[in-house]
Amino acid sequence: MKKTSLMRLQKLVRLLSDGEFHSGVFLAGVLGVSRTAVWKLIAKLQTWQIEIYAVRGKGYKIPGGLTLIDRDYLTEQITNKAKLFSQIEVLPTIDSTASYLTRSWQRQPGEGRICVSEHQTAGRGRKGRAWVSPFGANLYFSLGLGLPLGLSALGGLSLAVGIGLTKFLNQYCADKVSLKWPNDLLVKGQKLAGILVEASGDSNDHSFLNIGIGINWDMRVDDGGNIDQPWVNLKSLLTNAIDRNQILALILLELDSILSEYIEQGFESFRHDWASQSAFYGQPVTIHTHNGPISGIEVGIDKSGALKLKTGNGEKIFFSGEVSLRAVYQN
Ligand code: BTN
Repeated sequence: MKKTSLMRLQKLVRLLSDGEFHSGVFLAGVLGVSRTAVWKLIAKLQTWQIEIYAVRGKGYKIPGGLTLIDRDYLTEQITNKAKLFSQIEVLPTIDSTASYLTRSWQRQPGEGRICVSEHQTAGRGRKGRAWVSPFGANLYFSLGLGLPLGLSALGGLSLAVGIGLTKFLNQYCADKVSLKWPNDLLVKGQKLAGILVEASGDSNDHSFLNIGIGINWDMRVDDGGNIDQPWVNLKSLLTNAIDRNQILALILLELDSILSEYIEQGFESFRHDWASQSAFYGQPVTIHTHNGPISGIEVGIDKSGALKLKTGNGEKIFFSGEVSLRAVYQN
């Protein structure tokens, strides 16, 4: 898409984000385009899954308005306080923040960086699934970091992020969030957030870490219609009024501190929180492996983040990537 078109779309969303009606004539004047061009821009915004009412004689409106991500606020919060990240980019739309960061790193490796987008056209989940990403509804972001550690030293990192994030969100959600091994944040079996960690590099001395996180914030039921499991919005769980920008800044700073702790102390310092944050600790679960299902009681995780199950045939250990976990009652 041309830069001028993207800038016009951004300006149009900002104008409509107040939730009020704005006439086509007014919008055309502010944007410096014809009324037909406004209509085309509106149609484009609708493909980003923005709900827009068009009423003859009144104009266009986004019902309920939108709280857009405030680049200046985030930049101020992150650049002064984060230890590992010095750059933050806020995009209106992108294929995937994860893919974008990988491209950015390949072009120019260097300082830790964060990319946040209002919308993704090809958001990626684990196991090749798509991540539903309507504009302005949720939080989609990726953190990219070069580490002087080989891939073999990164055991448990993705689980450390999951445990740390679950524990953090629980402070704002009355302890309702739990982690389904390895990377699903759930509330009563409904998906709240997902984490996609991609690490590349060599096994000995350096790696590039790409941590992508999607958190459902205030998604409309219709927009989440294609998600193949029950889901829940973070906004509906908060015990105090915190807006979209504030929670995002708090989460990014917490991730900075989780990663710093992991780099300094390794996975062990997160492991002791597993019992309190796990969705199924001490409960019967079934692990689906390539060779069929194995049932048992979840009894914890080992030093590398692998899941331990007590089965009729003794304790068994499972590594993520090759298996998926289900609660027994969900089968
Ligand atoms: C999962 O399957 O649970 C992981 C979902 C991760 C989604 C996030 S959204 C931001 C980042 N960009 C992507 O394309 N994926 C991750």
